[in-house]
Parts: sequence; structure tokens; C-alpha cells
Amino acid sequence: MAGSDAARSVASGMRLGLGTGSTVAHFLEHLGARIAGGELSGVVGVPTSVRTERAARKLGIALATLEEIGTLDLTVDGADEVDPGLDLVKGLGGALLREKMVAQASVRMLVIVDDSKLVGRLGEIAPLPVEVVPFGHMSHVGWLRDLGAEPRVRDGGNGHPYRTDNGNVIIDCHFTGGIEDSAGLERRLGRRAGVVECGLFLGVATEAVVAGVGGVRRMKRG
Ligand code: A5P
Repeated sequence: MAGSDAARSVASGMRLGLGTGSTVAHFLEHLGARIAGGELSGVVGVPTSVRTERAARKLGIALATLEEIGTLDLTVDGADEVDPGLDLVKGLGGALLREKMVAQASVRMLVIVDDSKLVGRLGEIAPLPVEVVPFGHMSHVGWLRDLGAEPRVRDGGNGHPYRTDNGNVIIDCHFTGGIEDSAGLERRLGRRAGVVECGLFLGVATEAVVAGVGGVRRMKRG
């Protein structure tokens, strides 16, 4: 429901950021159907992962790189958690770095979720993914623990750590009771050499479509 609602928000000629995840997969299907049916023209998307790139190609959605497009009109992406101020935790799908770059290059970011993703405080349900370069990645574990996290290096299922599309490693950080000061945490992570990005999206999303048993509702920042 959220995916089809978001696809109806797209207008001809829009430059789109295409997020990653199972909810976005529905959005892409509806978007592809509108394009194939001739309802939309001149739409071009910047994919946030190899997985989304493949899906969009199959659906006949025209693609470009961030370099080619520059500023995007709208990014549509899922989230792992959404708080009442529309701040997010993202990255359980591993695409957080490209997702954040694309969202920050967009005038608007529309988040599509079901209502199980709504939280009072970020980190209540989902771990916070932290993307780090492979070199010395275990050196962050103790440091993250000192910040109050229970860190776990994401497993690739092949006896090695999971690797992102950028070749990096993810450390999932559980915070019992949620993250107390998400802006402070983001700043500290940003200062740590070897940390590439974290899944906190603070002040980035402008609106959300939330689907639940009662239907779909819209939320707007502010
Ligand atoms: C991908 O890296 C994530 O940020 C996803 O956007 C997020 O995990 C939501 O995915 P689902 O729609 O599959 O829950």
C-alpha cells in the first residue's frame, strides 16, 4: 500500500532517488507499471544499491548516476525505524551509505513503511548499522561498547563479514532502551577514523507514507 501510494506521488520528468529494500521493491513495481502504461514519461532514477539497479532495469525504469543528475527532486526509500520527528534508522539492508548520499542530494525524501516501524525513540527495536572500512574493523568494537552499544559485526553467511556494495563491513549496534542522544552519537561516529557512515538519518526525511491495517496515512516533518 505504501509503495503504490508513493508511486502515485511521482510526476513526469521527475529525477528520483530509488531506495533499497522489500518495501521499495513494491514502489518500483508500481512505478514501472505507470511508466510502461504511458502515465509517466521522462522519469529517471538514481539507484541506491546494485539490487535496486537490477530491479529497476528489469522494470524499464531509466537510470542515471548521482554525478550525472546532481540534485534530485524526490527520493523514495524504506526505513527500519521512524520516530515522531521523522528521524530514521536505516541500513538493515546494507545500503545506508548510498541511501544517505542520494537522500541528501534530494529536495524531498519520502519514507515508505508499515506501522511496525514507528518508534518513540530510535534504536528501540532495530540495531544501528555502522559502516566501517575493512582495515582494522575489529578495533571499533570496544570503542562502540564504551558508547553504550552492544556491537556485532554483520555476518556474510560465508564465514566472513558481510560486505556492502562499497566493499565495507557493517557493525550492527544494539542500544538497550534505544539511543539517548542520536545527534551526539552521529557526531561521535562521524569523527571516528575508519567509520564511513551510520544508519541515523536525522533531519533528512521530509514526509512518510505509513501503511497499517486501517489503510495508509501521511506524515510530514514539522
Ligand atoms: C536498506 O539498506 C535499508 O535502509 C532499508 O531501506 C530498510 O532496511 C527497509 O527495508 P524493508 O523495506 O525491507 O524493511
